[in-house]
Formats: sequence, structure tokens, C-alpha cells
Amino acid sequence: MTKINPGKSIRLMRSTDLDLVLAWRNHPDVRRYMFTKHEITMEEHLRWFEHSAQDKEKYLLIYEPYANPVGFIQFSKLPGSAVADWGFYAAPDAAKGSGRQLGLGALDYAFCHLNLHKVCGQALAFNEPSIRFHRALGFHQEGLIRDQHFDSQQYHDVLCFGLLRSEWQPDL
Ligand SMILES: CC(C)(COP(=O)(O)OP(=O)(O)OC[C@H]1O[C@@H](n2cnc3c(N)ncnc32)[C@H](O)[C@@H]1OP(=O)(O)O)[C@@H](O)C(=O)NCCC(=O)NCCS
Repeated sequence: MTKINPGKSIRLMRSTDLDLVLAWRNHPDVRRYMFTKHEITMEEHLRWFEHSAQDKEKYLLIYEPYANPVGFIQFSKLPGSAVADWGFYAAPDAAKGSGRQLGLGALDYAFCHLNLHKVCGQALAFNEPSIRFHRALGFHQEGLIRDQHFDSQQYHDVLCFGLLRSEWQPDL
């Protein structure tokens, strides 16, 4: 099989992706790791999409290897800088290894296409897959904010990760 360049499998999200992205976002395996856990309605989802589309500092992206969409990524640039926060989820039924490919592709897009200087991520302390994912992609843990997130039942620590362009290893 031809080896794909994951960075080339990233494209901007379109309105035709709305149903699929909402289904991924509302899936219990994704929702449990989000900072907002309620089930998102299509109305709320549409408002978010239309608002984000007008924000020049926001990039909503789809990871789509072999024309098959399997994940969502968002970069939000901090105003006036080349530093961005990211968020992401793989399709709950995606094949093993898709999450890592999504990460590699998104970082290629961030550093080569958006020319970012730094990508920052935050993970709830119980989100072990995301913590392993960040570490495996070369992110440094830059902080642990204690009891930062309240999920309406209990408080959770939040881990902060950062990856500089100079630390990025495209051939990981
Ligand atoms: C975060 C996320 C994208 C990370 O992806 P991932 O779980 O690393 O996905 P992968 O499919 O690449 O890897 C899954 C596991 O299969 C393993 N794996 C990878 N390729 C494999 C293969 N070919 N065969 C068997 N196992 C494989 C990986 O090593 C990994 O194991 P680990 O969990 O022990 O590290 C994904 O977990 C996700 O979407 N989570 C829900 C949303 C979320 O938490 N978003 C982030 C908020 S901060």
C-alpha cells in the first residue's frame, strides 16, 4: 500500500461534515473526555460552526486519509501570535493507529501550513489516552493545574502540554 503523508490528509471542515462531526462529538467515548459534557444539539453545533467560520484565528479541520473522514481537529490561535491551542477527537470507530496519524497530520498542518511557533494542549488528568498521545508526539508537560475543572460532581486536575516548532519531529 502507498504510504500516505498524513499532513496532506488534513482539510478544512465543511458544512457537509456537520452531521458526522456532531455524531463523533456526542459519542460517549469522546464526550466523557471533553470539558463540556452535555449532549450538543444540532442547533448549538450549527451556531458554533458559523461563529468559528468567521473567526480568522480558528481553524476547524478534518483528518481524511484515503477520502475517509476519521477525525476532527481545531486550532485556535492566541491573538497576535503564532501560538495556538488545539483540540481533537478521532471517530470512535476509527481503526487502531488513527489517533496517532491524526496527530502527526495535524502537527504537519500546524507547522508547515499555518506556520505556528507552538501548539498547546490541555487534557483532563483521567484522560490517559490523550496524555500518552501528547507525550508520544513529543509534547512537553508544562504544568498541572490542580482541581481546575469541575464536572458537576467532582474536581479534576488539568495537564498542560506544549510543543515548539523547534522540537517537532516530522518523521516520528
Ligand atoms: C486522543 C485520541 C485522538 C488519541 O488517539 P489514540 O487513542 O492514541 O489512538 P490510536 O488509535 O493511535 O492508538 C490507540 C492505541 O492503540 C495502539 N495502536 C496503535 N496502532 C496500533 C495497531 N496497529 N495495532 C494495535 N494497537 C495499535 C496505540 O499504541 C494506542 O495504545 P495506548 O492507548 O496504549 O497508547 C483518541 O483517544 C480520542 O479521540 N479520544 C477521545 C477524545 C479526546 O480525548 N480528545 C482529546 C482531548 S484532550
